[in-house]
Amino acid sequence: MTVRRRPRWSELQPLLRPRKVPLRPTERRLATVASISDLRLLARRRAPRAVFDYTDGAAGEEISLRRSRQAYARVEFQPQVLQDVSAVDATTMILGRPAALPLVFAPTGFTRMMHTEGEPAVARVAARTGIPFALSTMGTTSIEQLAAAAPDGCRWFQLYLWRDRAASHDFVVRARESGYDALVLTVDTAVAGARLRDVRNGLTIPPSLSARTFVEGAMHPGWWFDLLTTEPLEFASLSRFDGTVAELVAKTFDPAGTIADLAWLREAWEGPLVVKGVATAADAVAVVDVGADAVVVSNHGGRQLDRAPTPLEVLPAVVDAVGDRAEVYVDGGILTGGDIVAAVASGARAALVGRAYLYGLMAGGERGVQRVADLLMAELTTTLALLGVTSVSDLRRDHVRLRTG
Ligand SMILES: Cc1cc2nc3c(=O)[nH]c(=O)nc-3n(C[C@H](O)[C@H](O)[C@H](O)COP(=O)(O)O)c2cc1C
Repeated sequence: MTVRRRPRWSELQPLLRPRKVPLRPTERRLATVASISDLRLLARRRAPRAVFDYTDGAAGEEISLRRSRQAYARVEFQPQVLQDVSAVDATTMILGRPAALPLVFAPTGFTRMMHTEGEPAVARVAARTGIPFALSTMGTTSIEQLAAAAPDGCRWFQLYLWRDRAASHDFVVRARESGYDALVLTVDTAVAGARLRDVRNGLTIPPSLSARTFVEGAMHPGWWFDLLTTEPLEFASLSRFDGTVAELVAKTFDPAGTIADLAWLREAWEGPLVVKGVATAADAVAVVDVGADAVVVSNHGGRQLDRAPTPLEVLPAVVDAVGDRAEVYVDGGILTGGDIVAAVASGARAALVGRAYLYGLMAGGERGVQRVADLLMAELTTTLALLGVTSVSDLRRDHVRLRTG
């Protein structure tokens, strides 16, 4: 039987250590976060539903997106124990430049809709962390403004093929003049994917104040206050547009783009050229033959062709086909440092993340994005150490196995 006694004050006192509660609401919110999935939940509370769904959602039945996440869940690591992992090195080289970890912040359109701090906040975190940031053609910060916001960071510019080729060429010239390190051509966007959540939510760009969004606004006052009291939310490279994302893509993007356009771009841009949105080994070889320096195995985070190949699953075949002729990156569904380790062990030079940093941005602006970078770095180094690996460059395919059950 348990014998009870009255506790003494001297025993209780050391247990009573109230945690310091940060005064600023954003910091208070972020202090409770232990993972990017936690940040996603915070983001869902802070942003209006249509904005959260635009970020979180994908095309069609969202099968591609689900499969991408499931692929990472199927990864089983093969650790080697009793290795000296007292120092773990997460650094790597991306397009000839050192990076603090094998990670790139992917291009995302309309980023200031998630949080008014937008692309400059994401680019500053990337620069501080020591990883590249890719600015989208559909960004809400111009090529020049972004360069001024993160002058020392590694900056890539992502291009879509527009019907107006002269405008595409103008972007290339501006990116060169503003000192961008690489150009990314996204090739999986001939037409807009069917984003059903956006259709159901009636999302327009910019968000309009209908009766429904007005009620929504009352539930997310912080987001609306930010929207209405800062610089107007608009595309940096497009004149004012009122309509849905699908209408915008149909009007602006060129569905007739071919490999000849990639050859044209190769002529126009002398720096490193990345082709994003390749889903098969044959296409990867085709774009490398035309002069791509890197390919991103990607299905646009499941936002374009639903049921497209699952990037992590096709990655090894692409790496084998391309060999050392180009770097191979992968994206889609990456939410943890362990996912990045799985991607690199499967042959990727680096992983790109989109939603992961957007959840951080929505939840807490620049500080939220910083939290994402810190979490990914901490999770990555812990995973490497527990795998018995001291350096990212030592990761091999036999460190991972895809479970079938
Ligand atoms: C809200 C949002 C906007 C995006 N906009 C672009 C874009 O403008 N250009 C582009 O090449 N990819 C865009 N993407 C795709 C990302 O670059 C990346 O391929 C994708 O987010 C990777 O999947 P993940 O979000 O699961 O990490 C966007 C993705 C999201 C979530």
